[in-house]
Amino acid sequence: MSSQIIDGKGFAATLRAKIAHGVETLQSDYNVTPGLAVVLVGTDPASEVYVRNKARQTVEVGMTSFEHKLPDTTSQAELLALIETLNTDPSVHGILVQLPLPDHIDATLVINAIAPQKDVDGFHVANVGMSSTGQSAMVPCTPLGCLMLLRDQLGSLRGKTALVIGRSNIVGRPMARLLIQADCSVIVAHRHTTNTAELCRMADIVVVAVGQPGLVRADWIKPGATVIDVGINRIDAPERGPGKTRLVGDVAYDEVAEVAGAITPVPGGVGPMTIACLLANTLIACARSYDIPDPEGLTP
Ligand code: GUN
Repeated sequence: MSSQIIDGKGFAATLRAKIAHGVETLQSDYNVTPGLAVVLVGTDPASEVYVRNKARQTVEVGMTSFEHKLPDTTSQAELLALIETLNTDPSVHGILVQLPLPDHIDATLVINAIAPQKDVDGFHVANVGMSSTGQSAMVPCTPLGCLMLLRDQLGSLRGKTALVIGRSNIVGRPMARLLIQADCSVIVAHRHTTNTAELCRMADIVVVAVGQPGLVRADWIKPGATVIDVGINRIDAPERGPGKTRLVGDVAYDEVAEVAGAITPVPGGVGPMTIACLLANTLIACARSYDIPDPEGLTP
């Protein structure tokens, strides 16, 4: 059996088109343009690429992009002062502080300084608490993207057994919360779990986000399960020539694709969904701030 490949890249493009339509509605009917502020401290090359892509896609859907690139010598107090300015700026509806932050800055303190209604990452403790108790909240972008792909693939998730591998605040934990909210029975495995393969064989849905190439093997997978691979790992690819590399996920893709019912590829699976969901959250945050109904019904 060969599994269906879940086209995250195509899904994200359709989602961005919906968001662009929503932005047009806010502009034409309410004279409002959503604005997203992205703050980058330092010069981490991967973060610089992400921030550049976010800014480009923000503009492509018709929103205003505010980019704040600060040197890595920026003090915590200076960063907090910028966040306070953005919190009170009426043209800014979403604020994202790119992680990781330099060691001399307390990331938790900074995240919790963002106004919760502008926290389009969904990392503020108020949003985490509200979403954990089943209340409407900003939801982290990567898990939201995974949920959208799962709903598109499977329809209702009610009663399904889901295994989340990884318990980070960015993916694993919020993913587990969303799957509970979607009426799944949820298991979370992490570095101290001793029987991950055994747990995995029970799962109708597997979401893995640990950063270990090839961790999930074919004999872990219940035949027909849906596998969502959040990992993005760059590995050497000597078969492509000397010094060449390629991107792979946390799933041994070729062998798992023989057993799973559906699987996300890397690249082209979950990756493109993250920024699309960031833009969806910004549209939602903007509409909410004016008490306007969500124009595209994207609220999770
Ligand atoms: N760094 C890696 N992923 C993310 C993310 O989703 N949001 C932020 N703010 N930083 C990140």
